[in-house]
Amino acid sequence: MHVLVIGGAGYIGSHVVKALLDANLEVTVYDNLSTGLKINFFDKARYLVGDILDVSALNEAMSKNVDAVIHLAAKKAVGESMTNPEKYALNNIAGAINVLNAMSQNNVRMLVFSSSAAVYGEPQYLPVDEEHPLNPVSFYGFTKYDMERYFQWYDRLKGLKFVSLRYFNAVGYDETGAVRGLEQNSQNLLPIVMETLTGKRDKLKVFGNDYDTRDGTCIRDYIHVTDLGAAHVAALRYLQQGGESRALNLGTETGISVLEMIKKTEELTGRKVNYEFAPRRPGDPAVITASARKAREILGWEPTHSSPENIILSTWRVYNS
Ligand code: UD1
Repeated sequence: MHVLVIGGAGYIGSHVVKALLDANLEVTVYDNLSTGLKINFFDKARYLVGDILDVSALNEAMSKNVDAVIHLAAKKAVGESMTNPEKYALNNIAGAINVLNAMSQNNVRMLVFSSSAAVYGEPQYLPVDEEHPLNPVSFYGFTKYDMERYFQWYDRLKGLKFVSLRYFNAVGYDETGAVRGLEQNSQNLLPIVMETLTGKRDKLKVFGNDYDTRDGTCIRDYIHVTDLGAAHVAALRYLQQGGESRALNLGTETGISVLEMIKKTEELTGRKVNYEFAPRRPGDPAVITASARKAREILGWEPTHSSPENIILSTWRVYNS
């Protein structure tokens, strides 16, 4: 199977590429290197530098006997999506429509999409399963939600088969050291914890310590990118075997609070995290954890890399080198 991985030089994308190569699939990466990094390139993959807003370059990439597409290229800073929705509309929606249309034009019928827990919004019950109402509270979440609707229509009208993988909080680094690129200006918790440890940042702000949780800080379901990579391979196999289009949660089904993440990091690295409590960040739910029962049943997928020790130490190894 020849897979076109759009956004395959980024943080999650490069872990997905590694999983595909390890499964002996043929991989072409299409990436504009806006956040993707050359340091994340693998010798066994082919690389095309291009933008999803460049329709002719995208069509050209898609015309080379591509069997399936994995689409990960998107902007992902939730806060920024609320102040600059235009950027998110253009990249995450218009860009993804370009991908869909290029697939359609070149008769590529299998798509694995990088979706998000952000499609659910404020949880009405826990753990969140795929039947939970979709009510995104951020524009970022809306872009993922909106694209899932497009896929359903393209399935109905054009025979596109898709698996939309709704990641919970993606964390960790490849344990063999094959991915070394650090995200620039990441707004996510663990990269910020690491940058505080290495002195790149002065202080971590903990957004809210008055939530109704065991220690007052928010609880999230952190899933290792190596486990995410394995799910993409399984989703491709599922589609290849004629599986129906669907959305699947990817999470561990357990939660870690912000303070627990800090304490565990201190324990494992032997260093102090300089942090202070700050006001709540708008739009943050107190707790969100996944039900991943469907991914287990349908893909035979099980997270095996996502222990707190492993997510922290695999990340620390890269930040501390
Ligand atoms: C959100 C989305 C997730 C999406 C991701 C992309 C939801 C529920 N989740 O994750 O689906 O893929 O963004 O970026 O919408 N925190 C601090 N201080 C910081 C940074 C974070 O205290 O400097 C806290 C946050 O308040 C939160 C936790 O750490 O409780 C994790 O935050 P973050 O890493 O930004 O991810 P989410 O917002 O949970």
